[in-house]
Amino acid sequence: MINFSAKNIRNMKYTFPLILLISLSFALTRAQNEGSHFTNLYFTVSGRNLPSNGNPYLLIYHVHDDSSTNLGKTLGVKDNPNPEWNKVFKAKYFHGENVQNQRLFVQVKGLQNTANVFVELSSYMESGQNLSIPLTGEYSGSSLILQGTTPFYFSLQVNNIPATDFNWWGVRTGLSDPYINCYFFSASDPWDAQRSKFHETTVVRNVHDASWWDQPIEYLNYVKGKGQKFLLEVMDHDHMSKDDFLGEAIIDVDEFVRHEAILITPLLNTPKIGQAGQNITLTVKWEGWAQLTEP
Ligand SMILES: *[C@@H]1O[C@H](CO)[C@@H](O)[C@H](O)[C@H]1NC(C)=O
Ligand SMILES: *[C@@H]1O[C@H](CO)[C@@H](O)[C@H](O)[C@H]1NC(C)=O
Repeated sequence: MINFSAKNIRNMKYTFPLILLISLSFALTRAQNEGSHFTNLYFTVSGRNLPSNGNPYLLIYHVHDDSSTNLGKTLGVKDNPNPEWNKVFKAKYFHGENVQNQRLFVQVKGLQNTANVFVELSSYMESGQNLSIPLTGEYSGSSLILQGTTPFYFSLQVNNIPATDFNWWGVRTGLSDPYINCYFFSASDPWDAQRSKFHETTVVRNVHDASWWDQPIEYLNYVKGKGQKFLLEVMDHDHMSKDDFLGEAIIDVDEFVRHEAILITPLLNTPKIGQAGQNITLTVKWEGWAQLTEP
């Protein structure tokens, strides 16, 4: 039972407004969050049937109501009518009834003239984040394709690196200073021409084993079912001369993503260290998907 004694009633006088204030502020916070609920969109752009004698690159802006944000710029891709610009762009897509007019403004530069195109983000979403946009006028017949990507994190470790340096008598002494170059490529691409580097780890000094567990690597370009592969190249940093190649591994990215687990693989092509190199293993650890939706 509630006790309506004079003292309690006096206290309630203060408690009720306080409760009211607190619930009101909760409601407000929730309303604000609902209003600004958004998805982080990640996407790349490729071209189809562009003039083959240019060096086209892209400038992309996010246009929302009357304001626009510069999302960045790609490098040029020379003399290729079907360029793949690997740069991943990031844009916020707001949800809710009163958020409209969310567009991208894409400029293709590095051709004879600049081609401009607007992309409605709602159409892009309806397409399943895989949208083909025809260019018009002088460049009609050409198009751009926007393809959504789903970024994820992984981390690396390398074990059993034999001593690789030699002293004056030809005996193996010094330990290695390993680091790893990370490339990706697609199976349909020519093996070495199209691989692109997306990360280089730090150098760990004087070790048999090195782990970069505490430095997760973000892979932004993931698109399921495109036959993407990682080429992970383990190097030995050298102060005096060129860095030495210790070996490499090729990882099927769809396969890795499907298991969301740890993958351990021997290094291939370990030229400098021969037999001893066969013991080197690389561990690739799944760290999770990037957060796409935020309150
Ligand atoms: C994107 O759409 C095109 C057809 O417009 C299709 O050929 C392609 O496979 C799609 N890509 C993905 C990753 O779904
Ligand atoms: C590989 O590792 C095993 C176990 O640590 C060791 O006995 C063997 O000698 C190593 N092989 C080479 C070629 O270093």
